[in-house]
Amino acid sequence: KHITVLKGGPSEEREISLKTAKAVEDALSSLGYEVSSVDVTDEKFEIPKGTEFCFLCIHGSFGEDGQIQRLLMRWGIPFTGSDAASSEKAFDKAWSKILFVQGGIPTPPFCVVGEKEKIPFDPPYVIKPSRQGSSIGIEFVYDINELGLAIKKSSQYDHIVIAEALVKGKELTVGILDDKALPIVEIRPKEGFYDYHHKYTKGASAYFCPAPLSADQTAAVQKTALDAFHVLGCSVYGRVDIILAENGIPWVLEINTIPGMTETSLFPMAAKASGIPFAQLCEKIVEISYF
Ligand code: DAL
Ligand code: MG
Repeated sequence: KHITVLKGGPSEEREISLKTAKAVEDALSSLGYEVSSVDVTDEKFEIPKGTEFCFLCIHGSFGEDGQIQRLLMRWGIPFTGSDAASSEKAFDKAWSKILFVQGGIPTPPFCVVGEKEKIPFDPPYVIKPSRQGSSIGIEFVYDINELGLAIKKSSQYDHIVIAEALVKGKELTVGILDDKALPIVEIRPKEGFYDYHHKYTKGASAYFCPAPLSADQTAAVQKTALDAFHVLGCSVYGRVDIILAENGIPWVLEINTIPGMTETSLFPMAAKASGIPFAQLCEKIVEISYF
């Protein structure tokens, strides 16, 4: 079977996307698939005639936000992961969080902010571009005087910026594969926050998978992750990021519909903990995406 890997993309996460693509290409080739790839640098990209199926390895805008999915759906080419509509919702944190609230999924208090806005809850805040990945453009605000600058910095990455209450707790992530939750990963950055550096630098964070939680807590977190996935209408695979507060509430931060598949990435780690090696994971994603 022939698979075309769509890689790179124009977003700030391009470097990560290329690493994800390399890992996926090597894995599928090792299983005997005929693999070719297209480096998508902008929306004018061309796809070779004869393309049967695309494995999407583009994080961030254009690849993960529903745009490329919409094009492929129009062209009648099947692809991996969630459809255009759910990708668009999941990539937009403001939109996702509104839907989480409506769907009864716990998500930290938030609001969309402009430069002069007053936020109806107390700091500390996490200021985030609504549509961005890999923690790019995220600012932590402990003092209200720092808010304006933080919003300004964050708005370089998206014109919609959200302020979210900084909730303390365990940093967890839950991979979803084929409508089931994988073992939970707990992340402990060696210092500071799980930002871009701590995500992609080997040794900068410690990971525990399965996360050392009680059976009840594990089940509750996995259920919330799967519920959140369903609320946005996501399918096939993805990764739900969660903070588990001391009072046991699993606060859902966001869903990644094209989770990183690099050496330090968490979705492959979770799959491995459930007995699915990387190459088989890639193959499974292909098989359950084919429609
Ligand atoms: N946005 C990155 C690639 C992730 O969530 O893994
Ligand atoms: Mg994300």
